Amino acid sequence: MDVKVGAAKQIRGSVRTAGDKSVSHRYAMLAGLAEGTSKFENFSSSADCASTLACMEAMGARVRREGNRVEVEGTGGTLSAPMRELDCGNSGSTMRMLSGVVAAQPFTSVMIGDASLSRRPMRRVIEPLELMGAQIESNDGCAPLTIHGTRLKGIEYQPPVASAQVKSCVLLAGLFSEGETTVIEPVRTRDHTELALKAFGGAAVRNGDRVSVRGGQKLKAIEAYVPGDLSSVTFFLCAAALFPGSSLVVDSVLLNPTRSVVLDVLAGMGVKVSFLKVEEQYGELIGTMQAEGGIFQGGVIYGAQSAALIDELPAIAAVAPYSQKGVEIRGATELRVKESDRIHAVVRNLRAMGAEVEEFPDGMRIPGGQKLHGAEIESFDDHRIAMAFAVAALRAEGECTIKNAESVAVSFPEFFEALARVVE
Ligand code: S3P
Repeated sequence: MDVKVGAAKQIRGSVRTAGDKSVSHRYAMLAGLAEGTSKFENFSSSADCASTLACMEAMGARVRREGNRVEVEGTGGTLSAPMRELDCGNSGSTMRMLSGVVAAQPFTSVMIGDASLSRRPMRRVIEPLELMGAQIESNDGCAPLTIHGTRLKGIEYQPPVASAQVKSCVLLAGLFSEGETTVIEPVRTRDHTELALKAFGGAAVRNGDRVSVRGGQKLKAIEAYVPGDLSSVTFFLCAAALFPGSSLVVDSVLLNPTRSVVLDVLAGMGVKVSFLKVEEQYGELIGTMQAEGGIFQGGVIYGAQSAALIDELPAIAAVAPYSQKGVEIRGATELRVKESDRIHAVVRNLRAMGAEVEEFPDGMRIPGGQKLHGAEIESFDDHRIAMAFAVAALRAEGECTIKNAESVAVSFPEFFEALARVVE
């Protein structure tokens, strides 16, 4: 499906998105492991979280779904051997986190994914799981993964890359392992797994940069409203950044501090962000906020900030040419191993729109004050590239055609309708 996006004059209105993808994955997995029936409102509408639910179903959880209302009848911790491959679709989170769970079960599982997921690095989870005693066959470090479940033992592990997926994989495996499992993370990553474990009656204990779980924990079902997805909302905030005087109210969105660095960065770049209401639910902050566009200044993003913003960088980079001073992103090599090589994808599409941009192995420098024109946008079947360039198109002269725009369904199936509602 190709979608055409033309220039806008202003961004105004309100946005409310379905539940956060990262939180929904974890709630779905833990609900499947828990005793009792969990009930979720505003569960993520993403194809990725549907993949997680399907995998849990294949291992014995019962899932009932009506739109964003999802019920999961848990297995009480005793999963059954899947009758077929566990299909993770496009979802790295599903494959990486669930590999930790299945590695400790008394059966063999085969985890598969689509073409993009089958190219993504899985050694980062295979290595710690093997240290715990797991037996895994892979296609040279990539999916399909054949995981022969076995008894695991707790380890202390420091992942070589900052990754919440790797941390979560090891902690989830730790739930089924002998003794204690500890992950050391010098660069703090999103902490939804730790918070979700507590929500379900388990425990993950943080001590400085160490987080530990004990094996043999019993989890209990919960009822929860999943806070809106801030990474999805970022596309709208970047759209607002493009138009001085724009105004957006964002309702019921996740404001977990390990995720909300994007708000600080956009505020530093000139977007006025204010909070109208903030509440806490199961340790996750959820709030209503207002964003107003001012002078979009740009800036430099590097190091730990790049790691914290990894999912939001494509959107920021795509609007960077319209900033006053430009944007430089460094320390973001991980972007090259996401659903696509997102550095290459952004550079390619910005150049197609006539932008000047310098590419580095770990990022890019995009000068400000540029005028862009419409172009054919290659989404590389990557949801965040398709959405980032739909936003970049709002200030271009002439129309952009986003090729294979259906990939937005991986995280945000309602994206184009939601965008149309706030564009003037
Ligand atoms: C995620 C962690 C991040 C992020 C991904 C979701 C998660 O990946 O890019 O979209 O839910 O834990 P890494 O852990 O590989 O950095």
